[in-house]
Amino acid sequence: MQGFPNSPEYTALNSPIGEEYELKSLAVEGSIPVEVEGTFFRAVPDPAFPPFMEDGGAVLSGDGMVSALRIARGKASFAIRYVQTERHKAEAAAGRALFGKYRNPFTDKPEARGLDRTVANTTPVWHAGRLLLTKEDGRPYRVDPRNLTTIGRYDFGGKLKSATVTAHVRIDPQTREMFSFGYEADGLASTKVAYFIVDKQGNLAREQWFDAPYCAMMHDSARVKAGGDHWVHEMSRDSWVGVVPRYGNVSDMRWFRGPKGVSCYHMMNAFEDAPRRIQFDQCLSGVNAFPFIQRASGLNVAPGDTGGRLERWTIDLENGSNGVVETVIGPPGDFPVIPAASQGRPYTHGWMLAMNPDMQGPPVAGGPVGAMFNLLLRLDFTGKQPQTLGLPPGHCFNEPVHVPALKPGHEGWLLAVVDRQTGPSDFTHALWIIDAGNLRAGPVAKISIAHRLRPQVHGWWVSAAELAAT
Ligand SMILES: [Fe+2]
Repeated sequence: MQGFPNSPEYTALNSPIGEEYELKSLAVEGSIPVEVEGTFFRAVPDPAFPPFMEDGGAVLSGDGMVSALRIARGKASFAIRYVQTERHKAEAAAGRALFGKYRNPFTDKPEARGLDRTVANTTPVWHAGRLLLTKEDGRPYRVDPRNLTTIGRYDFGGKLKSATVTAHVRIDPQTREMFSFGYEADGLASTKVAYFIVDKQGNLAREQWFDAPYCAMMHDSARVKAGGDHWVHEMSRDSWVGVVPRYGNVSDMRWFRGPKGVSCYHMMNAFEDAPRRIQFDQCLSGVNAFPFIQRASGLNVAPGDTGGRLERWTIDLENGSNGVVETVIGPPGDFPVIPAASQGRPYTHGWMLAMNPDMQGPPVAGGPVGAMFNLLLRLDFTGKQPQTLGLPPGHCFNEPVHVPALKPGHEGWLLAVVDRQTGPSDFTHALWIIDAGNLRAGPVAKISIAHRLRPQVHGWWVSAAELAAT
C-alpha cells in the first residue's frame, strides 16, 4: 500500500493489505477432522490510511478487520471485511487518517473531535448468538456472523454504563454467563473499572464499578494532553490483583500485591483448588513486552532479557496475607489457550506459543512486538513432559483456537494460521489443524489461504451448531 512509513509497523508481515475479499474454495491438504465444522473468526488490525504523525503505538491502532474461515464437510472458504467503526467510516469519507497517536485524542485532527476512537481490532467475542468485535479502549461493535457486515456499536440494549469493554471476557462453560470488565470506564486515564455479568441470553444482568489502585497501564492525563504516549511502564510500581466473589459486591473486593515492575497481558486460567485459595496462571514478564512502551518509559531491554515465564500466583484468602506466592510453571511465551470447558476450573493442561530455542536464524519479524512466535507448546500440570511443535525457519504461528473432539479422551484440535516468509515482503499463509494431544505429529490438515494476510490478534471458534442456532 502506498504512503505508509518504511518502518517495522508497516513493512514485511506487517505491510498493510487494506482489502476486503472472499476466497470461495480453499485448497486442503490432508483431511479435516469431522469435529472441525464451523467458523474461525479472527480480528486483524489493518490500517486503511497512512498515519500523519509518528507513533510506535500505531501497531495497536490498525483498523479492525474481521475474517471468517468457514469449514463445512471437509471444505473451506475465507472472507475478510473491515469493521465499520465510526472512526473507519469517518476516515474513509475523508480519504485520509484523522486520528493521531494510539489512545491520545489530543493528537487528532479537528474533524475527528467527538468521534468514537476505538478500532475494534482485538478479539471477536461470541456470546449468546452475537459476534462482538472488541478493543479495550471502547465499546464493541456487533458484526453479522454470516456476511461480516457491521450492525453497529453495541451497548447491551442501552444498559451498559461503562464506556469500555475488555477484549478478554470469560464465559462460564456451565452457566454460559459472560464475565467482563472495562477499565478507564468513565474516560481517559480514569481509575474507574466496571465489572459486569451478561446472562446466557445476552442480557446485562449486573454492572458494578470500583476504583483500581492506580490507572493500570495508564498514566497521568497531563502527559497525554501534551501529545505524549498513553502508557509508560514504571518498574517501581507494585502489581495488584483484585479478588471479588463472582456474584458478590465490589465493596467486598480484596487487593493482593504481586512483585514490582512485572507485566501481564494474558492469563491461561484461574481457579480455586481449595476453599478460598485461588491459583492464577498468567504469561508474565519482568517488564512490559511492547518496545514502544519501553521506549516511552526510558527502558532499554534486549528481547532476551524481559524475564518472561508462565507463572502461577497462589492467593490465599484465609491466611491474612495480602501477598501472592509465585511459582514458575512454564517458559516465556504468550497466547495461552485452554479448552472452553476448563475455564475457571482446576485443569490438567494448556497450550501456548513460544520461541523455539533450537531455531537456526531469527524469528519472522512482525506483529506488535516485532517478532513472531515459532513454537507451539502443550504444557502439562500433572507432571508429564511438555510437548512441542517447532516450525521450520521462516515460519511463524498466529494464536491458535481450540476445537473440542467428540471422542472421549481425545484432546481435540488446535487451529492456527501459519505464515511462511518466501521473500522480504512475500508470504504465504495456511491454516494448520493440529491434534492438540499429539503436537509432534504435525498438522493433520493444511488449508491454504491464497492471499496476503496481516497478523491476527485473537480469534474465536464458533461451531456450526452454535451458528445455526442463531
Ligand atoms: Fe489480548
